Amino acid sequence: MLQLATAIKKTEIADTIFELVLKTELQKYTLRPGQFVHVRISKSTEHVLRRPISISNIDYDNNEITITFRAEGPGTKKLAEINTGAAVDVLMPLGNGYDINTAEAGDHVLIIGGGIGVPPLYELAKQLNERGVKTTHVLGFNSKKDVFYEENFNIFGETHVATADGTYGVHGLVTDVIQNIGTHFDKFYACGPKVMLKVLDETMPMDGFISLEERMGCGFGVCYACVCETKAGGHLKICTDGPVFEKGAVVL
Ligand code: FES
Repeated sequence: MLQLATAIKKTEIADTIFELVLKTELQKYTLRPGQFVHVRISKSTEHVLRRPISISNIDYDNNEITITFRAEGPGTKKLAEINTGAAVDVLMPLGNGYDINTAEAGDHVLIIGGGIGVPPLYELAKQLNERGVKTTHVLGFNSKKDVFYEENFNIFGETHVATADGTYGVHGLVTDVIQNIGTHFDKFYACGPKVMLKVLDETMPMDGFISLEERMGCGFGVCYACVCETKAGGHLKICTDGPVFEKGAVVL
């Protein structure tokens, strides 16, 4: 599970949002969209905890994965300073990602991302389209400077962008876009802030799957830092049972 990777390309794709392409030995793994890597930022005691970061693109042919993150705390800001050619210590693949078999060829599904929840949905859209599933996408951001991946999703299908301050796309939230385009979809797949997921979980009429963004400790099920409650009254660990859960499964 512990893997040494090499940083081969780093790009700032929106305000404080970075894409990092890592070369590593992918043949060992079957990765699912929605899984994440746990990155060790440096060997110094300043950054003891690894950071969970979503995988936004998987390229088996070239042995590369792309991870996309917001440089907001000391750890991710440090990661954003990495030079190409540097070695990166990653635990991967972690978590229980989206099951693409939940949609059939010919289905039309809705993919909904909010902010830094958008990246894992790109690989999901790619794999669903390869399977013959039609995807429509709704991406929500705070402001124009935060918008990314609109062109990437456009390749696969109709893509709507909403910004909370109205500086780009629809003025409002992803739910405002959904009100306009309707809910005539076979399934929905969402990732983003908990408040957005809660609204979708409670209001979307079709079956769906949500992915939680959560602070984590170990990332592989031993520290209990990421436990969430289930609606049935039990507990699940987001790092190993999730981060993807079926609609209605967990308390948000
Ligand atoms: Fe340690 Fe989930 S992060 S159990």
